[in-house]
This record gives sequence, structure tokens and C-alpha cells, in this order.
Amino acid sequence: MEADRSTVAAALLLLVGTTCCLWLLSWWRSSSGGSRSRNRLPPVVDSVPIVGGLLKFVKGPIVMLRQEYQRLGSVFTVNIVTRKITFLIGPDVSSHFYKAQESELSQKEVYQFNVPTFGPGVVFDVDYSVRMEQFRFFTEALKVSRLKTYVDYMVEEAQLFFSKWGDEGEVDLKEELERLIILTASRCLLGSEVRNQLFEDVSNLFHDLDNGMQPISVLFPYLPIPAHRRRDRARKELASVFAKIIGNRKSSGRSETDMLQVFIDSKYRATGRSTTEDEITGLLIAALFAGQHTSSITSTWTGAYLLTYKNYWDSAVEEQRNVMAKVGDKLDYDIVSEMDVLHRCMKEALRLHPPLIMLMRYCHKDFSVTTRDGVEYNIPAGHIVATSPAFANRLPHVFKDPDSFDPERFAPGREEDKAVPFSYTSFGGGRHGCLGETFGYMQVKTVWSILLRNFEMELVSPFPEIDWNAMVVGPKGKVMVRYKRKLLA
Ligand code: HEM
Repeated sequence: MEADRSTVAAALLLLVGTTCCLWLLSWWRSSSGGSRSRNRLPPVVDSVPIVGGLLKFVKGPIVMLRQEYQRLGSVFTVNIVTRKITFLIGPDVSSHFYKAQESELSQKEVYQFNVPTFGPGVVFDVDYSVRMEQFRFFTEALKVSRLKTYVDYMVEEAQLFFSKWGDEGEVDLKEELERLIILTASRCLLGSEVRNQLFEDVSNLFHDLDNGMQPISVLFPYLPIPAHRRRDRARKELASVFAKIIGNRKSSGRSETDMLQVFIDSKYRATGRSTTEDEITGLLIAALFAGQHTSSITSTWTGAYLLTYKNYWDSAVEEQRNVMAKVGDKLDYDIVSEMDVLHRCMKEALRLHPPLIMLMRYCHKDFSVTTRDGVEYNIPAGHIVATSPAFANRLPHVFKDPDSFDPERFAPGREEDKAVPFSYTSFGGGRHGCLGETFGYMQVKTVWSILLRNFEMELVSPFPEIDWNAMVVGPKGKVMVRYKRKLLA
């Protein structure tokens, strides 16, 4: 009995002792460390349990980010159903996001929804080591010597396309540029067979693949809905189209100067094996998905700004005039590369409107970040970590007067994007920075060089709003433009 009583007393003592310790620990965490304590979790967005975060998020991610950034600062967590998404907003807290190794922050888990579109055996369906080899094929396909040829194709395509416009008229610039960008992308990436013989068929198949990527697909990529069924059918048909093209090239020994050829000729270093037809198809689809909407959206925003800010239109025209005074009406990679005014206008349009508004990683290993105010937060393994170029590109402590169109902010002497690494994130950065950045610049600048040299233009619809509901975010509705052919003298 005595022994029982002393056991109970000891247990009680242990319980009280433990409770006191825990209380003291939590008091110490919240007071002694105050805002500077170590291992502090990020604040959590207030919401109705389970679906609250999802509802806030679905209403508009940027609206939510704006509100919560005001309330909670640059690091906070949103509970979305069973997931915890921690946002890191701005260069002070996002450098680990961009620089971390795959074993710490990885893409595969969060970008899985691309797998049924790209197909098996490529990009997010393979281990990191294989993906790195496949990205090496991309790098090879997009190196400067190849870009020089692609720019020649871009010039040809754009000249042919605009030669079909009348002497004057009104067009939906957004639709026109979408059509032109898919033509040039087809020529440079998919090859002359698709561009010259199969363009309609392949475009229709890509259209079905594209429509198969709905917001719902991010959470449930295999949901048996008609859009997903059409996507899967299109993926299969594309595989057979490319199998024929690849077979023909191989049997005839013909070699072309396009991305398709680079993928055909690529070999994995680890095993020495060549790419399969299905992998080649998947990589081409991935390239088109990475580069088509992003470039066409950017060419439309660049135009909308040039047409709204007359002083920049005039400067861009003046730049073309100066270039032509030096080299005539020739356009190639080196000439386009030197167009700084146009470059800065495009870069500024992209700062204000990055088409990829949210980038994500899965956190495998705890890490900590310190905000500008010196607050340190611990981000635990298991969280999804996200950042938003669309929001971070407009932070007033990074970019002066951030909502205004001011391409000169990138000019020598100001270079606001360079003050702190990862300030300008329209192309991501660090370990997974965009591999097609120069291709994108070349494509948009080539198109606008030809327009500036050949037309007077006027925006006749209101300045476009942003279509936040799109997967790749661009201008909403039509962007109507009146044009008149006028050769630059
Ligand atoms: C204006 C045009 C473009 C924009 C705004 C853009 C934007 C981006 C962004 C933000 C990322 C980073 C994604 C992340 O960190 O999760 C990225 C990655 C990538 N982009 Fe682009 N992109 C453009 C054009 C292109 C083009 C034309 C291609 C290829 C033809 C391309 C190929 C890629 C690839 C392969 C990656 C993955 C890199 C990696 O994960 O290591 N992009 N792009």
C-alpha cells in the first residue's frame, strides 16, 4: 500500500514537473526569444479548419498573399486541406528556395500533375539524376550556336506571318501573337516536318493536351473527366506522330537544326543509351509547355505597354532606326541581342506580369530563414514551400514605385534587380532557373522588332486586366490593336 502511494506520488510529481517544464519552455519560446527565438514556426493564416485555406487560395492566390503579407509578414503558412504550404516572399527569405539541393527542396512531388501531359519516363516522372541528364539535353538544344539558327527561323516565321496582314486593319493582338509563337516554336523545337506538313494536326493535339491541364488537374491529375480523356488520347497520338518523324529521320540519315534533332542525338552519360521515341516526344511536349504560353503572353504584355507608354514606343522605334542605320534591315541573333531598349521594356513587362505566378518545392529537410526584421523561422520537413514571382516582383523595398512601368529601372546606374540576389524572379533562378530565358527574349524581341519596323499601331481596347484564373497567367480578353503598314525609314 505504502509502495503504491509512493508510486502515485512520484507519478504525480513527474506529471506536474513535466507540465511546468513544458509551460516554462513555451513561455521561454514566446517571451525570451520573442520574435527572435530559434526554431519558431511561421505564423499560420487564419481560416476555417480543413477547407478554409483552400477557399482563400482559390478566391485568388495573389489577393490572399497581399492580405497575409500585410498581416503576417514575408513568411507564413497556409493550411490547404491536409497540406501546409509555407510562403517565402521576397529576396530576403527566398534564397534557399532557389538554391537548395534536390535532397532538401524538390520539385518532383509538387509538379507531379505534369506527368500525364508530358508522358512517362521524362522530367517529373524520373529520378533527379535522370532529370538532370534530360535538362542537359535542353541546355544543349538551347545553347547560343543553336539559338543563332532559331533566331533565323523566328525572323522568317514573323516576316511571313505579318506579310499576311493587310495595309491597315484591326486585330486581336493576343490571338495573333499566340498563333505566331506556336508557329515559331514548332519550327525551332518540333522541326520542319511538323511545321510544313503536320502543323494543323499537331496544333490540334497540343490544344487537347493544353485543355487537359485544368486547375483541378493539379490536385487530381487522373480524375476521369472528358478533358483528361482527350489529353490522354492526344498524348498517345503525338507519340505516334513523332515516332514516324523520328523513324524517317533515322532511316534517311537526315539531320536537322532543331530541338527535336538534339533530343534524337542525345545519350544518357550514366548508361550510354540513346533517348527513346517516347522520351523524345515527352521532352518536346515539356519544351512546348515551358515556352509557348510564357512567350506569347509576354509578347502581348510587352506590346500593351509599348502601345500605352508612347515615350517607350518612340525609344524602341528609335533603337530600330539606329540598328538599321548600322546593318540595314537584317535581323539575327547578334543584332537582336544588342537591342537594350526593347530588352528592358520586355523585362519590365515580365516583372509586372510573370506568367508563372507561383513556384513550389517539397521540403525534405528542415531549414530556417531570417526576415528583414531579424525574425528567424524554422520551416519543417513535410511542408510545401512556395514563392510568388508575381507578388515578390512588386515589393516596394526592392523595386522603386513597383506598380509603375519603368524599364529604366534596369538600366546601368540603377539596376534595381541586381541589388540583392533573387529580386527579379520572372524566370525563377538558382538551381532551377529557366533554361529557355534567352530563347524567350529572342522570340519576343524578334517579333516586336518586325512590328516596330513595319507598322504604326494603336491600342483600341482598354489596357488588359490580368486573368488570374489561367494556369499560365496572362492578359484577360481581347487586346485590340489598330495597325497601319508603314516602313521605317
Ligand atoms: C518568357 C518566357 C519564359 C518564362 C517567363 C519562363 C519562366 C520560367 C520559370 C519561372 C521557371 C522556374 C520554375 C521553377 O522554379 O519551378 C522556368 C523553368 C524552366 N523553363 Fe522557362 N520560361 C520561359 C520560356 C522558356 C522556354 C522558351 C523554354 C524552352 C524552350 C523554357 C524551358 C524551361 C525549363 C526546361 C525549365 C526547368 C529548369 C529546371 O527546373 O532546372 N522556358 N521557366
